[in-house]
Amino acid sequence: MNDPRPIGVFDSGIGGLTIAHEINKILPKEKIIYFGDTQHMPYGNKSNKKIIYYSNKIFEFLIKKQCKAIIVACNSASSVAIKQLMQKETQSCILLNVIDPLINAIKKDLSIKNIGVIGTNATIESNIYKTRIYDERSDVKVYSLATPLLASLIEEDNAKLYDKGIIESYLSHENFKTIDTLILGCTHYPLIEKKILDFYQKKIKIISSLNYFGEYVKNVFEQKDCLNQSPKKPKHQFYVSDYTNSFQKNTKLFFPTSIILREENIFS
Ligand code: DGL
Repeated sequence: MNDPRPIGVFDSGIGGLTIAHEINKILPKEKIIYFGDTQHMPYGNKSNKKIIYYSNKIFEFLIKKQCKAIIVACNSASSVAIKQLMQKETQSCILLNVIDPLINAIKKDLSIKNIGVIGTNATIESNIYKTRIYDERSDVKVYSLATPLLASLIEEDNAKLYDKGIIESYLSHENFKTIDTLILGCTHYPLIEKKILDFYQKKIKIISSLNYFGEYVKNVFEQKDCLNQSPKKPKHQFYVSDYTNSFQKNTKLFFPTSIILREENIFS
């Protein structure tokens, strides 16, 4: 079946653009509607109640845009709001999160034994990674650590403002000394993946939802038979809750051609 409806993708800021970019690479015919909740970024330091409220509002906005799928491209929202969003999922709109594909990968890769997870306060406090990994694998150890300053630092200057001291002081944690795999449990973190690899001198494996998301979403759409078959090049749409030049600049890094970024107040 030809389904030309758009795919909605949302995050608090630019992190979800990494996921949107991946979708665009693997499914170039699909139109993407992106919403970055820049007004409320960082989500990771907010209460669960607020993250659920913002996520619900964005979900409703994307539903109004007739999306055939909504992708929660934010680990914080995927950790604390997914249950509430699932209650809103309908027959005509698929809901996907960024945690499922990572868990599937860890389930299959038996070489992974000692896992470190970094993420925002909201993600780490939810214990979602520990719980879901232990549900699948009883032979591994999982250590998690909140790294709350990283997302804002990355958002500010798309990794140029990186301060090696921050990465070092977070990752030198005692529990992380023996890990063989590090999960980047925040969609912002792949933007500094190289710097994290440098810290570990490439001795460990670093994984994030980005590594698996393109394939994952393609399989889901093929199974549900809802790919866009139209030969026309899609015109993506980008929305933020608070327009800034830096977001416009960052969006262009991922989608270089004719980006129109609109501010939309969906929270009043
Ligand atoms: N990119 C987000 C995540 O994956 C959110 C970062 C934040 O807003 O705190 O958790």
